[in-house]
Amino acid sequence: MILPVILSGGAGSRLWPLSRELYPKQLLALCGEQTMLQQTAARLDGLDDVAPPLVVCNEEHRFLVAEQLRSQGCGWSGIILEPVGRNTAPAVAVAALRASAQGDDPLLLVLPADHLIRDIEAFRAVVRAGAAVAAEGYLVTFGIVPDRPETGYGYIRAGEQIAAVRGSREPSAFVVDAFVEKPDLETAQTYLDSGDYYWNSGMFLFRASAFLAELEAFDPEMLAACRAACDGLIEDLDFLRLDREAFAACRADSIDYAVMEKTRRAAVLPLDAGWNDVGSFSALWEVGERDAAGNVRQGDVIDVDASDCYLHAGSRLLAAVGVRNLVVVETADAVLVADRDRVQDVKKIVERLKADG
Ligand code: GDD
Ligand code: MG
Repeated sequence: MILPVILSGGAGSRLWPLSRELYPKQLLALCGEQTMLQQTAARLDGLDDVAPPLVVCNEEHRFLVAEQLRSQGCGWSGIILEPVGRNTAPAVAVAALRASAQGDDPLLLVLPADHLIRDIEAFRAVVRAGAAVAAEGYLVTFGIVPDRPETGYGYIRAGEQIAAVRGSREPSAFVVDAFVEKPDLETAQTYLDSGDYYWNSGMFLFRASAFLAELEAFDPEMLAACRAACDGLIEDLDFLRLDREAFAACRADSIDYAVMEKTRRAAVLPLDAGWNDVGSFSALWEVGERDAAGNVRQGDVIDVDASDCYLHAGSRLLAAVGVRNLVVVETADAVLVADRDRVQDVKKIVERLKADG
């Protein structure tokens, strides 16, 4: 059986002022009618032998998460509440421990709650193929063919093909020779030029026990802290509350650094499914519907000779004249104006706002 684990704890700070602490990216309908979380859950329909998802989120988002799943008729296996964010390695660890405590050793399909996947059939096909590989004990990743030297992603070098799906039709699987999380620009460029690397999509598939064994080997203290947080877990109606002190004492780290860079049991399946992690306004512009002048417009927008802009009006009329390559996002209490090539730095605004209190 596959147990999807939906990670819904990120802040999405590069999408400020749309994404806010209390209303982050994954809980917004950024591409289409459904929120990113709802799309993530809906994507699982049509896969066989899949349990309802186990969601891991911050306790502040619990009602929004439950309501968004409920309103589209999606059940859940549990909603684990983190008292504080400790990044993705502990989030996956508590999900794996919870699954194991129930006596099962399911395949965990770890899904970020905030990605866009256009070709859902291709996604399902690669998950099915990945399940066969994960059942053999591999920690499965899904690789995207890179098209730029992005420094915000992990890079995966594929090695030998794996027998589990060898001989069968696509998609094929390979052992991972190297996993490098967020390399610097120069390194990313050499990876891109070599043609030997995939981007890590951020989704994973492995047996709960396989992940826990690797975490035990690489960071036993993190695993112990997560175990203590689960031992003190309180079931509170719809929610599973981790022990606050134990979880707060856990080291914060991502699954990529804590486990994937170190493990020798990783496999990669190429994924060609129109994947986009919608991390910034330029990504939203790319996936959005562009008019003839290359503008993506949302809400009440009027323009004269604007081109290649992302124009979002939340609560008022937004008018643009003669501008190029801009991101303008208007909300009730904040307006962002940015060069479309500088949108990675929007998070610096959020940092400064936080620092200024
Ligand atoms: N529950 C929980 N708790 N979820 C979290 C936490 C946390 O503390 N921190 C992040 N998440 C969620 C985010 O909401 C997102 O859905 C997912 O986990 C990944 O976290 P990001 O913070 O967005 O990671 P990243 O984008 O920097 O890097 C990851 O994704 C890239 C692809 O988008 C890595 O896996 C990279 O290797 C990968 O290329
Ligand atoms: Mg991300």
